[in-house]
Amino acid sequence: MRILALESSCDESAVAVHDDAAGLLAHEIYSQVDLHRIYGGVVPELASRDHVRRLLPLVRAALEAAGTTPAQLDGVAFTAGPGLIGALLTGAALGRSLAYAWQVPAVAVHHLEGHLLAPLLEDDPPPFPHLALLVSGGHTMLIDVAAPGAYRILGETRDDAAGEAFDKSAKLLGLPYPGGPELAKLAGGGRKDRYDFPRPMLDRAGLEFSFSGLKTAVALAVKDHAAKNGGAIDATTRADIAAGVQQAIVDTLVSKTLRALESTGYDALVVAGGVGANRLLRERLAAAAARQGAKVFYPRIEFCTDNAAMIAVAGMARLKAGKVESTAIRARATWSLSELNG
Ligand code: KG4
Ligand code: ZN
Repeated sequence: MRILALESSCDESAVAVHDDAAGLLAHEIYSQVDLHRIYGGVVPELASRDHVRRLLPLVRAALEAAGTTPAQLDGVAFTAGPGLIGALLTGAALGRSLAYAWQVPAVAVHHLEGHLLAPLLEDDPPPFPHLALLVSGGHTMLIDVAAPGAYRILGETRDDAAGEAFDKSAKLLGLPYPGGPELAKLAGGGRKDRYDFPRPMLDRAGLEFSFSGLKTAVALAVKDHAAKNGGAIDATTRADIAAGVQQAIVDTLVSKTLRALESTGYDALVVAGGVGANRLLRERLAAAAARQGAKVFYPRIEFCTDNAAMIAVAGMARLKAGKVESTAIRARATWSLSELNG
């Protein structure tokens, strides 16, 4: 079976073609970061308008790169949520319409299921069941993944997501959007022990996270240093703060993940979502999991952040299970992963 998939939940317009026997045939992506950079974050209305401009040319490019004609497709998948509603509607409307025109089923995909199943695109895919740490700009969750489509949330953030903590701290340090990778770069040249930022919820039992206190602590550190130095903050201090932030986030994520591995007894861990691209997190998780006899599975770096290849994989699983859409165009800004079960 062969499927075409669209992703448009935030600021990436992406299209992929996937074949269940031959694997990924093509994936095209257009990142809108340049469009949103001057605003310091994603402007939803601009994102929607740009998806409208970008998606169809990307569909043509992906079909051509895959050497596929619409007649060879068995379905069209699109991200139906969660995300920015206008942005989602552009992909949902196009996906549903293409499926109608090509007379194949349309498949509505949950964006987070896409992230969770992205490691299935790799040569060494994770076994089921496994534990997943899903860390993106909007979500931080530990999930018991019994099988594709069967998800139990073990713990999640009570406030900011890990990616949001990276992004907000980066903004406080004056780094350009998107801040996460920029902060990680800056942290590489800093001292990780000069600033000891809070590691919230670590002292408590359970698998919940909370990152909102971190940005307050970073704001105070920046303000305090600037006040003592005539309003300026030198490059060394900025790097040290970045290193302290990264250390606090990674420590928290690693520690709770180990707890979840212990409580589930699983020996496979999937790390998914944009923050999964963070090198320190990857190294620390690999080392810690190995000590516990567990193996870590990641998507390749480009499939950690938003892309359509992961939507194609999740869409293929749904298509095979007969979970297809009616002719209505549906998109949901909020949508819990637990609703997918059954
Ligand atoms: O999964 P994703 O592309 O989009 C969402 O669904 O949210 O994740 C984006 C998030 C952003 O917060 C971004 O700053 C963060 O992932 N991110 C990183 C790194 N690369 C992306 N955070 C830390 N280190 C990185 N290398
Ligand atoms: Zn995402």
